[in-house]
Amino acid sequence: PVRLGIISALREEQTGLIEIMQDVVTTTRGMRDYVSGRLWGIECVCVLSRIGKVAAAATTATLIEKFGVSHILFTGVAGAADSRLRVGDIVVARQLVQHDMNAEPLFPRYEIPLTGLSHFYSDQILSKQLLNAAEEFIRTDFHSAIADYDKQRFRLLQPLVYEGLIASGDEFIAHDEQLRKITDRLQDVLAVEMEGAAVAQVCFEFGIPFAIVRTISDSANEDSPVDFVQFLEKIAAHYAYSIVKRFIALH
Ligand code: ADE
Repeated sequence: PVRLGIISALREEQTGLIEIMQDVVTTTRGMRDYVSGRLWGIECVCVLSRIGKVAAAATTATLIEKFGVSHILFTGVAGAADSRLRVGDIVVARQLVQHDMNAEPLFPRYEIPLTGLSHFYSDQILSKQLLNAAEEFIRTDFHSAIADYDKQRFRLLQPLVYEGLIASGDEFIAHDEQLRKITDRLQDVLAVEMEGAAVAQVCFEFGIPFAIVRTISDSANEDSPVDFVQFLEKIAAHYAYSIVKRFIALH
């Protein structure tokens, strides 16, 4: 039977989902609250990992080992690494890489020691469903879910949905040079964040299918600290709620 683990780093990336869960049981483990129940008829466990790769890895392992989830979905925000992407666009991860992993000269740059891998693939079926859910959200709910005032303020026009490479590391990217160090060596990175590739590695090691969706909150530059906080406060939850709802409706 399907039991879906839903992870976000921060409360604002998951607001709305926990509130409408049915038959809720909350368990605290390792300083995190695991909220089990049903969302639109599907058994789910929602949890906030907090920020960073270790936080995300510990949360993912606990979801799998203690809560027995069969699939994992991560929803959250990210900085744009590709200049085509705008605030409000959506990225579904096809692959994830840890941009701060470097065990040279023992192992090739970015390779996770003893796995032989640097890039981890998300589950194709779940990712396709997430893409469909995100596109449906943009086509339908988006215009009513986001107030016109906020659309203007964040210059959200007609967001686009992308699928590709996400790079994760224990670093908030708020300067051009920081971003360039990542994108000079790793081609085709669409977005940067701080958890996805850690979730991907743990899911790979436990054989659990996963998918990751990120809304662009900032352009990974000097404006990021302000853009990130405002987007998180005003917009992120609308995206997460609507995309997860449409994703679950496909099951
Ligand atoms: N998540 C959202 N924006 C980010 C950024 N600029 N750097 C790292 N993680 C992020």
